Amino acid sequence: MNREILFTIEGADFDAWTKLAREATPNLTLIPDLPADGTKPAEHPGIHYCLAWRPRKGLYARVPDLKVIFALGAGIERLLADPELPPHVPLVKMAEPGLTEAMIHYVLWQTLNHHRRFWELEMAQRALRWVEQDYPAPWNRKVGILGLGALGEATAAALRDFGFQMRGWSRSPKAIPGVACFGGLDRLAEFLDGLEILICLLPLTPETIGILNADMFRGLAPGAALINAARGGHLNESDLLPALESGQLSAATLDVTSVEPLPREHPFWRHPRIFITPHNAAETAPATGLLEIARQIARFEAGQPLEHLVDRARGY
Ligand SMILES: NC(=O)c1ccc[n+]([C@@H]2O[C@H](COP(=O)([O-])OP(=O)(O)OC[C@H]3O[C@@H](n4cnc5c(N)ncnc54)[C@H](OP(=O)(O)O)[C@@H]3O)[C@@H](O)[C@H]2O)c1
Repeated sequence: MNREILFTIEGADFDAWTKLAREATPNLTLIPDLPADGTKPAEHPGIHYCLAWRPRKGLYARVPDLKVIFALGAGIERLLADPELPPHVPLVKMAEPGLTEAMIHYVLWQTLNHHRRFWELEMAQRALRWVEQDYPAPWNRKVGILGLGALGEATAAALRDFGFQMRGWSRSPKAIPGVACFGGLDRLAEFLDGLEILICLLPLTPETIGILNADMFRGLAPGAALINAARGGHLNESDLLPALESGQLSAATLDVTSVEPLPREHPFWRHPRIFITPHNAAETAPATGLLEIARQIARFEAGQPLEHLVDRARGY
């Protein structure tokens, strides 16, 4: 069995990953793309698997026997846009417990922030103000998630378990206990109607670019909050400040922006009701990520279909 994986993640600690790979399964060996002295990248005949995120130019041509590309993360739009991506090699997006748990924690943190308006209390403390606050019970708070994939479904279920009145929207219809599910564009308005907290966990595709826009905000309850933990390209950024000024939106959390890092002079940084985090909502946990890759390789070598396979025509 060939379980050598070409490790192409620049800036990662190769030795630490190698140790984790050995612990994940005795058959998994990581091969560095660059020699230890960091000089010329090597040719890699006979290697069937590769872990990629920002592939160096010419990478794929140096791995002639490549059978599967494993993406380090869940959002693969950049890998797909690479003109060098070999057309017939399956691309698998990452779905693993470490990444999912991190996203659940991030979204839960910000959902509670908006549900209880904790941000208002922080502002009050800074102004030495003792404020009174009312808030509904979570089961009276309407929260919706755009995207019910590996991350969206698990996050919807976790927020449901915290008592929120949950809805979810995806391309195809889904059934998630305790979550009202809406499938397809023709059910989008119904999904949005009266939502008080809107969370984006969609992939970035030609169909979802700019989906968080003035039209969508108008479909929500007045004063709704937005959480974008997906990609900066989902938000039509010029629609955000007017929506906050008019009160259509009360506040927004942005883990992602169209330009990253967000430039220092960008008005989003200083807006009192925009909360910025540096695209760190969720990262792949190396140990569980490698275990997942080992599991997928075992499936592949047993002739079973790969899971979380990217559909290139759909773009996710
Ligand atoms: N901020 C961060 O740190 C961070 C970390 C990881 C991931 N992310 C983002 O999170 C995204 C989601 O990850 P994932 O693993 O959950 O993705 P996924 O498993 O591919 O799920 C995507 C979901 O979006 C739905 N969808 C796609 N296009 C749609 C459309 N046009 N209309 C309606 N629904 C559509 C899909 O519907 P179907 O189920 O019907 O196919 C599916 O439910 C990633 O693509 C990435 O952008 C961000």
